[in-house]
Amino acid sequence: ALIGKGDHRHYMLKEIYEQPQVIGDTLSTFFNPTAQTISMPNFPFDLKNIPRITIVACGTSFYAGLVAKYWIEQYARIGVDIDVASEFRYREAPMQDGGLALFISQSGETADTLAALRYAKSQGQSILSIVNVPESSMERESDAVLLTHAGPEIGVASTKAFTTQLTVLACFAISLAKAKGAIDTACEARLCRAMAEVPSRTAEVLNHDEALRKIAQNVAEARDVLYLGRGSSFPIAMEGALKLKEISYIHAEGYAAGEMKHGPIALIDENVPIIVIAPMDSNFEKTASNTQESVARGGKVIFMASKEGVEKMADHCIATVTMPNVDPFVAPILYSIPVQLLAYYVAIHKGTDVDQPRNLAKSVTVE
Ligand code: G6P
Repeated sequence: ALIGKGDHRHYMLKEIYEQPQVIGDTLSTFFNPTAQTISMPNFPFDLKNIPRITIVACGTSFYAGLVAKYWIEQYARIGVDIDVASEFRYREAPMQDGGLALFISQSGETADTLAALRYAKSQGQSILSIVNVPESSMERESDAVLLTHAGPEIGVASTKAFTTQLTVLACFAISLAKAKGAIDTACEARLCRAMAEVPSRTAEVLNHDEALRKIAQNVAEARDVLYLGRGSSFPIAMEGALKLKEISYIHAEGYAAGEMKHGPIALIDENVPIIVIAPMDSNFEKTASNTQESVARGGKVIFMASKEGVEKMADHCIATVTMPNVDPFVAPILYSIPVQLLAYYVAIHKGTDVDQPRNLAKSVTVE
C-alpha cells in the first residue's frame, strides 16, 4: 500500500526528511541507553573468530558496503573484500574457510545479490544480510539478518535506506571491533557516543536545505560534475554522483581525491562543478590540497566541511556547506544528507521526474 507524501512535494524529499527518525529507530535496536553501549543480537557464528569478510551488494547498497570496509578494517582490523554482485557472482572467487559473507539490500530481492548470496553459501561462508524488507528472499536464505528500520522507501533514488544501512554497519563494526579486542573501552565509548549523536546531528544538517537549493542552480547548468573524497568520504562522493546521475541525468563521477591527478584533473575547467566531501579527519589536509589543485585549474568548488575546514577553504570556493563538527567515524552518515539534497534540488531545477526517473526500477529482480 502506498503511503502519503505528507507535506512534501516528492517521496524523495519526504524520505530525506525522515532520516533523523529512522536512523534513531534503527540505532535503538542496538543501543543500550543506560550503559551507552552498542551490541548485536546472538549470531549463529562467533564474531571473534571471523578471519575475513566479503561484502556484496548493488547500487547505493554497494556504497554503504564500501563505507563499512573502511570502518571494519580500521577499527576491527579484519580484511574486507567487496564487490558489486553482478561481478562477484560470476568471478568464482575463492573464499576463506570460516569467512563471513555480508549482503546489503534495501529490497532483499535484487537478483544479482541473491545469486551472490547463494554462491557464498556454496563456499561454506556464514551468511549475514542487512535488509529493509523483512521476509524478503535474502532474509529467508541467510544465517542471520539485521534489519534497517527505514520503513517503506518509495523514491527510486535510495536515501533513508542508505543512511540506515550505514547505521547498522557502524554498529556492526563497533561490535566486531569489540569482539576481536581490537579497540579499548575508551575507543568503544567514543564510537558509541558519536553514534548516539547521529539522529540529532542529522536533523541539524537538514537545516541546510535552503542553501543547497541555491547551490543547485549552479550545478543544474553543468554537463559534468565531479565528486571528490578520501577514506570513508570516497564512497560518499560516489553515492553523491550516483544520486545526481539517477535523478538529474547530469553526468557525474565520484573519485578518490588522491586519484584526481591520474586523469580527471584533465577535465577540469570553469564548467565543471567539483563537490568536495571533506570532514575534519586525518585526511582533511590532503583533500584540501587536492581541492587547491582543482581551483588552480579553474574548477568551481563546492566544499562540504566542518566550520574549521570551511574557514580554511572558503576563499577558493564558489560555495561552502558548513557541517557539524562530528567524530570522523560518523561523518559518512551525516555527509550523505547534503549530497542527497543537492541532487534533489538539481533535479527540481531541471524539472525531471524525481520519484520515477527514466529507465530505473526500485527493485531489480532480473539479471
Ligand atoms: C536499484 C535501485 C537502487 C538500489 C539498487 C540495489 O538500482 O534503483 O536505489 O540501490 O537497486 O537495490 P537493493 O534493494 O538491493 O538495495
